Amino acid sequence: MPRQRWSPALWLALPLLCMPWTTPFAEYGDVLLNNRAQQAGMPPVVFPHWFHRIRYRCKVCHSELGFEMRAGANVVTMNDIVQGKFCGACHNGQIAWATENCGLCHTGRAGLPTRIFGSHETLGPGRW
Ligand code: HEC
Ligand code: HEC
Ligand code: HEC
Repeated sequence: MPRQRWSPALWLALPLLCMPWTTPFAEYGDVLLNNRAQQAGMPPVVFPHWFHRIRYRCKVCHSELGFEMRAGANVVTMNDIVQGKFCGACHNGQIAWATENCGLCHTGRAGLPTRIFGSHETLGPGRW
C-alpha cells in the first residue's frame, strides 16, 4: 500500500513539524485517557494538561484531587466524576462546564492507548 510507504517518514517528521510552536509545551503534552472509555463504548478522553496547568497549581490536582503524576496511573470512573471527584471537582457546572458535555472530554480517536499525547515521553517525574 502506498500509504504505508510514507507513513514512517511522517512519524519522524511530525515532532520536527510541531517543534517551533510547541517547544514551550513539549515537556508535558496532552494526556490521552483510555483505560475504560472505549471498552465501555465511549471515545477516549483527551485531557489538555497545559490548558489546566496554566490555570491551577499542580497541587490542586496532584495532591488535593489525588491524580498521580503518571499517565494512566489513576482509575478514573465516570461515576467518580459525576460525584465530584477527579475532573468532576471542577466540571460540575460551576467552576467549569458540567459532565453532560460528553463530547468535550471524549474527543480521542478510537484505538489510541492511554499515554501522553504529542510527545513520546516527558522529562518530568511522570516517567518512572
Ligand atoms: C487540572 C488538573 C491538573 C493540574 C492543575 C496539573 N495536572 Fe498534571 N496531570 C493531571 C492528570 C489528570 C494527569 C493524568 C493522570 C492519569 O493519566 O491518570 C496528569 C499527569 C501528569 C504527569 C504525568 C504525565 C506526564 O506528562 O509525564 C505529570 C508529570 C504531571 N501531571 C505534572 C504536573 C505538573 C508539574 C503540574 C503543575 C505545573 C500539573 N501536572 C498540573 C492533572 C493535572
Ligand atoms: C470532564 C470530562 C468528562 C466529561 C464531560 C465526560 N466524561 Fe466520561 N470519562 C472521563 C474520564 C477522564 C474517564 C476515564 C477515561 C479512561 O481512563 O478510560 C471517563 C470514562 C467514561 C466511561 C468509561 C466507563 C466508566 O464508567 O468509567 C464512560 C462510559 C463515560 N465516561 C461516559 C460519559 C458520558 C455518557 C458522558 C456525558 C454524559 C461523559 N462520559 C462525560 C471524562 C469525562
Ligand atoms: C481544578 C479544576 C479542573 C479540573 C480538576 C479539571 N478541569 Fe477541565 N477545565 C477546567 C476549567 C476552569 C476549564 C475552562 C472551562 C471554560 O472554558 O468554561 C476546563 C476546560 C477543560 C477542557 C476544554 C479545554 C479547551 O481547550 O477549551 C477539557 C477538554 C477539560 N477541561 C477536560 C478535563 C478532564 C478530562 C479532566 C479530568 C481528567 C479535567 N478537565 C479536570 C477546570 C478543571
